[in-house]
Amino acid sequence: MTSNRSVEFLYLQQEDCVKAGGYDMKGTMQATERSFFLHGKKDFIQPGKPVIRWGGPETEETTGRIMSMPSFVGGAKYDQELQEKGMIGQVNTSGIKFIPSKPHNPEKHNLPRANAIIIITDPDTLMPACIMDGTLVSAMRTGAASGVAAKYLARKGSKVMGLVGASVQGITQTMAVKEGVPTLEACKVFDLNRGTCEKFVREMKKLGVELDFQIVDSAREAFEDSDVICTATMAKEPYVNGDWYKEGALHCEISFWDTPPEALTVMDFVVVDDWYQVKHHGVDVAWRAVRDGIIPEEKILGNLGEIVVGEKQGRTDDAQRIFFNPIGMGIHDLSEAHRVYENAKRMGIGQPLKLWDNPVLG
Ligand SMILES: NC(=O)c1ccc[n+]([C@@H]2O[C@H](COP(=O)([O-])OP(=O)(O)OC[C@H]3O[C@@H](n4cnc5c(N)ncnc54)[C@H](O)[C@@H]3O)[C@@H](O)[C@H]2O)c1
Repeated sequence: MTSNRSVEFLYLQQEDCVKAGGYDMKGTMQATERSFFLHGKKDFIQPGKPVIRWGGPETEETTGRIMSMPSFVGGAKYDQELQEKGMIGQVNTSGIKFIPSKPHNPEKHNLPRANAIIIITDPDTLMPACIMDGTLVSAMRTGAASGVAAKYLARKGSKVMGLVGASVQGITQTMAVKEGVPTLEACKVFDLNRGTCEKFVREMKKLGVELDFQIVDSAREAFEDSDVICTATMAKEPYVNGDWYKEGALHCEISFWDTPPEALTVMDFVVVDDWYQVKHHGVDVAWRAVRDGIIPEEKILGNLGEIVVGEKQGRTDDAQRIFFNPIGMGIHDLSEAHRVYENAKRMGIGQPLKLWDNPVLG
């Protein structure tokens, strides 16, 4: 028993996270592949997300929502294997991401649509070990989820990426897809707001993402002839047409209303991150297409983690059209947050804060 009852945690604001490697997609890809791997090994705990929204699922794009995403990520049993595979090592702790989204923020307040706070607990006491900005972690891991999907599911030798939605998530999608598919040479980008595309291209150049960027005038142009497509918009109505996909295309849809359920009939199969979570949240088009009898449930091949651990085979033919539709998993946030936190501790970054010196009760 210890006599010192004070509890101290590390506070990391976003600038600290950047200094600790939080804007380095190589690292985020390793942390995200790790959480897919441990998901495939079932070494995690991830309850369905509670969501506050002021209406039905579609109001997430209008009035917004607040999600809480608690999880535990293991890895002790696979520590050596994770290290050998370039997935850092074990996590073995729990935490939560609290993530509100207010769609009018960019225009009305010049603030990001979403913000997040992550708490990582000390595995022994379950006291907070770190409280940090989760906004960057969240955007980076969402990009990396598509990057890992592209690594496993894109056609070999893929050259052209099509991006629709060039804001926060568009940036991290592109960083990650390039990381997962090094053969990529070009990126066609479309956003309803051309200024956002221009800003996107500037950021890509600043980050040193070596692709030939072309701003196009329609989503159709971004889709046609693209090997890997990412949709990351705040679209409220579907605009995708199933005829736009070339043979062998992989479409990563991380937003929710871009693709109509009918377009999934042209897909050879669909991969999600966690089918239980997808059904629980109820907004992903993969779920709505199954629920409404537009595609049979057998078309959902499974969770990406099952492919990462080799339990299921992904692409078996260059001609297959594949749809990746993740709802977003708390275990990715925790895995990536843990990577940044460990870096910060090693580098002496962040501000130690106290929960208390001596608790009044207990
Ligand atoms: N699945 C996941 O894990 C996950 C995680 C994080 C975010 N998301 C989703 O990613 C999406 C994008 O997030 P963000 O932070 O970049 O949002 P944002 O509000 O910053 O940007 C959205 C962009 O989409 C553009 N847009 C809106 N409708 C369009 C349309 N019909 N065609 C082309 N462009 C259009 C806007 O001009 C804007 O640039 C959101 O829907 C969000 O919920 C998903």
